[in-house]
Amino acid sequence: MLQQRLDGPPRRWHSAAMPYRLIRPLLFALDAERAHNLSIAALRLMPTPAPLTPDPALASTVAGLHFPNPVGLAAGYDKEGRVAHKMHGLGFGFAELGTLTPLAQPGNPRPRLFRLVEDRAVINRFGFNNGGQGAAADRIARYRRPVGEGPVIGINIGANKDATDRIADYVTGVQVMAPLADYLTVNISSPNTPGLRALQDRAALDELLGAVTAARGSRATPIFLKVAPDLEPADVEDIAAACLDHRIDALIVSNTTITRPALRSAHAGETGGLSGAPLTDLSLQKLRDFRHLLGKRLPLIGVGGIGNAEQAYARIRAGASLVQLYSALVYEGPYLAKRINQGLKTLMARDGFATIDQIVGIDA
Ligand code: FNR
Repeated sequence: MLQQRLDGPPRRWHSAAMPYRLIRPLLFALDAERAHNLSIAALRLMPTPAPLTPDPALASTVAGLHFPNPVGLAAGYDKEGRVAHKMHGLGFGFAELGTLTPLAQPGNPRPRLFRLVEDRAVINRFGFNNGGQGAAADRIARYRRPVGEGPVIGINIGANKDATDRIADYVTGVQVMAPLADYLTVNISSPNTPGLRALQDRAALDELLGAVTAARGSRATPIFLKVAPDLEPADVEDIAAACLDHRIDALIVSNTTITRPALRSAHAGETGGLSGAPLTDLSLQKLRDFRHLLGKRLPLIGVGGIGNAEQAYARIRAGASLVQLYSALVYEGPYLAKRINQGLKTLMARDGFATIDQIVGIDA
């Protein structure tokens, strides 16, 4: 009942849903990876919900794709593409699955996922554990409506850890996944595959972006590039220039950080990528840096430490056409996207804006 009051009129899922504050202690009593797997299993069991009623004030077109609202699920939650199509019923305007690599690989040894409860953060060092692109493609094809007709689904691609030619792995990813994706994300920013982030260097990036854009052939699948927040000003300049040169369709800022701002939790010293609240300022600042260089020439997608409507609103005002989130779901529960959308509407009304487009970059 409380959940229904918070979330508006009852829908199929809501009537069956327990308030997250009751479920959270049970999930937090489990090892983080087990809790994650359990949440995916629960979503798989649920009927595919209808997307929420579209609200024209929240809708926008980015990279030629129609987004019913600007709040997306970030990569890493649904690595294998098991539930991405169900996230729209929870209020997400789009969902990005992956990272998927050409071949299946186990990732790093467990434990490799840590909750930093006092910091409202997460550290992960999964290392692209996944069952490979072929198996995921078969699975996604079973529920995928024709590209462009269903809810917006992005597919995030990466390289296998022991690939001898990493760029060839991205080309394979484009070829295998493009028929199933509304957009593809080239992820060169995971800290958990040694050497991967070196692809952000200018010469390597030119080669990579040339190869992946050519691999699309006649299919015009938009390609997004996802970068780390740990970039020097010269890196930001190089990446911005390379994106423009290769006509990349959008830039996702950012992945997790390998830096460690002041943290209180016992797990603060774990190796891996840090996400959640301590990433908010760093990701926002990188987004601002890219916006400063790029202006309106390239759409930006803001991700990193977004956990409420105010933070989503600030990211959009700083230049993000869309936002994504993951870590805050762990702390706030599955209906967070819906609440953020409601909050965005309230903030827009307060400030006299009628559409998302009117606020993108207004603070830049
Ligand atoms: C991630 N993230 C991620 N990103 C990516 O491009 N490919 C991936 O496979 C993963 N895997 C992954 C696993 C886990 C457990 C987390 C917490 C995160 C990064 C994610 O998409 C996002 O960029 C960052 O987590 C920052 O956003 P949040 O989590 O602070 O909202």
